[in-house]
Amino acid sequence: MSTLPSTQKAVALPAKRSPLIEISTPVHPPAAGEVVVRVQWVASSPLDLHRADGGLLISSYPAPQGGGGAAGTVVAVGSGGDLKGLQVGDHVSVFAFHGGKEANQQQYITIPAYLASKVPEGIPLQAAVTVPVNLVTVFHSVTADLELELPWPIPKNWKPKAVNEPILIWGASSSVGIFAIQVLRHWGYANVLTVSSSQHHEYLKSLGATVCFDYRKFDVVDNILDYLKDAEEPKVPYILDCIGSLKGTLEPLAKIAQRGSRVAVMLPVIVKDASEEEEPVYEMDVSKCLPGKWADGAIVRGVRTHFYLQNEFFKEKLQPEILPSLLAQGIIKPNNQRVVEGATMVERAQNALTLLRSKAVSGEKLVYRVSEA
Ligand SMILES: NC(=O)c1ccc[n+]([C@@H]2O[C@H](COP(=O)([O-])OP(=O)(O)OC[C@H]3O[C@@H](n4cnc5c(N)ncnc54)[C@H](OP(=O)(O)O)[C@@H]3O)[C@@H](O)[C@H]2O)c1
Repeated sequence: MSTLPSTQKAVALPAKRSPLIEISTPVHPPAAGEVVVRVQWVASSPLDLHRADGGLLISSYPAPQGGGGAAGTVVAVGSGGDLKGLQVGDHVSVFAFHGGKEANQQQYITIPAYLASKVPEGIPLQAAVTVPVNLVTVFHSVTADLELELPWPIPKNWKPKAVNEPILIWGASSSVGIFAIQVLRHWGYANVLTVSSSQHHEYLKSLGATVCFDYRKFDVVDNILDYLKDAEEPKVPYILDCIGSLKGTLEPLAKIAQRGSRVAVMLPVIVKDASEEEEPVYEMDVSKCLPGKWADGAIVRGVRTHFYLQNEFFKEKLQPEILPSLLAQGIIKPNNQRVVEGATMVERAQNALTLLRSKAVSGEKLVYRVSEA
């Protein structure tokens, strides 16, 4: 086992809407059941922007940045405990979200082994880092919020009960949406309706989307309802809102959901977008969004993937077993990557925030190198 340094560089938020800074934080040696990962790649996610500009889920400053994905090499393992078969030298991807020693935008993260996935042979870390956060999000939201089944392993001859029922993925070209199509199609859900800008329609169809609608068209809701004119009610029993924008997604979805529709909305609901000029406004309680506008009997849920560990089976299997197996078999393809450059780790993190703020991310994941080497 290599000797760990006692301190490391980390990216931190000094205050809301202030440039990121570099701080020195301790490197935590692994306890039983934990591993230490030398981080090589970070995937930047919209949550980074929600935290930086909106102070979302931050209790005090300076706050180490990151509740997102990381990928790197295991450099130390705890003595004893369930290490999920991980060894020093293994390449892993990580979705960890408790902050502190688990924050992803630092050189070393110390995590329970169940938050890591061994990266299959042949998949570069730069690609693997795009997967864990939003693939876990899809498993959590589909099972806990939409209450659709995703059994593992998939029983022979298994067919989902809702095999032909329409499942609408709004924001299907987002990282979450792209994984949602792949997961639902692999588990046999055959009627996956998608909404994105038209430039991504061909790609979404190649992943298995049944039909694609363009949200930039003013009559997108009419187009969807027209397509479903002969369907039984609720016309769309399952809706996954991968964006959670009050005006951009909840308003149109409130016109589509009917009694009995289940709607899972990625939190936070974005009431006002972050911009250079203004502070964003977020809402974590979906019941406060558009009161009186949803049909009676529509079930609207806010997705909070940070609670996925409450599902004991997913805690033990999702990152350690299911994710590597789906990647190795090519069932899940990593998101396209846009590499964010900059002279230092902080500069790269800052440049990623600028891209997120200007809504430059489309059908791809921002990734950047943590190590300077
Ligand atoms: N609460 C949770 O558990 C949880 C977990 C994961 C993510 N999230 C949240 O979910 C959101 C998405 O995350 P992500 O990483 O998947 O984002 P992302 O990939 O960065 O999202 C970018 C995509 O959003 C699409 N988009 C933007 N506005 C849209 C609209 N009005 N209708 C349809 N598509 C729209 C764009 O589509 P086009 O390019 O086609 O225009 C673009 O491809 C973020 O706010 C994130 O914080 C929440």
